Amino acid sequence: MHPVPEAIREAVNYIKSQYDKPVETGIILGSGLGNLINEMTIANTIRYAEIPFFPTSTVEGHDGKLIFGQLGSKQVVVMSGRLHIYEGYSPAEVAFPVRVLKLLGVHTLLISNAAGGVNPAFAVGDLMIITDHISLATLNPLVGKNEPAFGIRFPDMTAPYNQKLIEKAKDIADRLNIPLREGIYFGVTGPSFETRAEYKMIRLLGGDAVGMSTIQEVIAAVHAGLRVFGISVITDLGLPEVTNTITHEEVLEKAKEAEPKITALFKELVKAIG
Ligand code: HPA
Repeated sequence: MHPVPEAIREAVNYIKSQYDKPVETGIILGSGLGNLINEMTIANTIRYAEIPFFPTSTVEGHDGKLIFGQLGSKQVVVMSGRLHIYEGYSPAEVAFPVRVLKLLGVHTLLISNAAGGVNPAFAVGDLMIITDHISLATLNPLVGKNEPAFGIRFPDMTAPYNQKLIEKAKDIADRLNIPLREGIYFGVTGPSFETRAEYKMIRLLGGDAVGMSTIQEVIAAVHAGLRVFGISVITDLGLPEVTNTITHEEVLEKAKEAEPKITALFKELVKAIG
């Protein structure tokens, strides 16, 4: 057994002193997508600020709590409020909560986010299952000393998003009549939205959507052996023919509008997870 870094161990010990039940599914909710917690029977809420060494979230629309409880018959923990590189956190700090979740027993991680669409077939409000990502324009959370307590130095990243979960999500969406897109999430650091030239480049490089989160969490999760499912709400479009400016308010508003679909999908997906 490799030693767990002390900061993570202290964070986990504190959480366990407050909430002791095993949790199997972790859920990270993106900007404007926090409503899933209303579907839960909440057993305990722990603010990030209370937890030793836990980085705290500073963005509007991200309130910074771990919420423990049941969703259907499953024990889940929801990260309400995530951390971003653009807030000034190091990539490893952004990944810290994922490692904490791993040590709490989580084996499956569901992630949502708001993203800009660069695929010309997409419309605002679409949901896109993330089938793969491009992380070269953002920072890798595994830079630095490897932590063998979580995983190996050079983890495989050929299939970060679990195919079985993708298939399950597609079946559920079919059943619930929720149209889904699939595509590649292109990670950036933000906080500025992209220039027109950058949106064009992202499309040329193979992206379908672009966003400022998710990548660090997913890489840390895959490193630690978690199964990952990710989905983006397309909140704006970075297409040559679309000339509106993009604001954070607009992103939050469009995410809110699409939220019931993601909430329904996540609820059913948690039920279906073995
Ligand atoms: N670019 C980057 N991040 C985003 C966007 C975007 O257009 N929309 C929502 N998050």
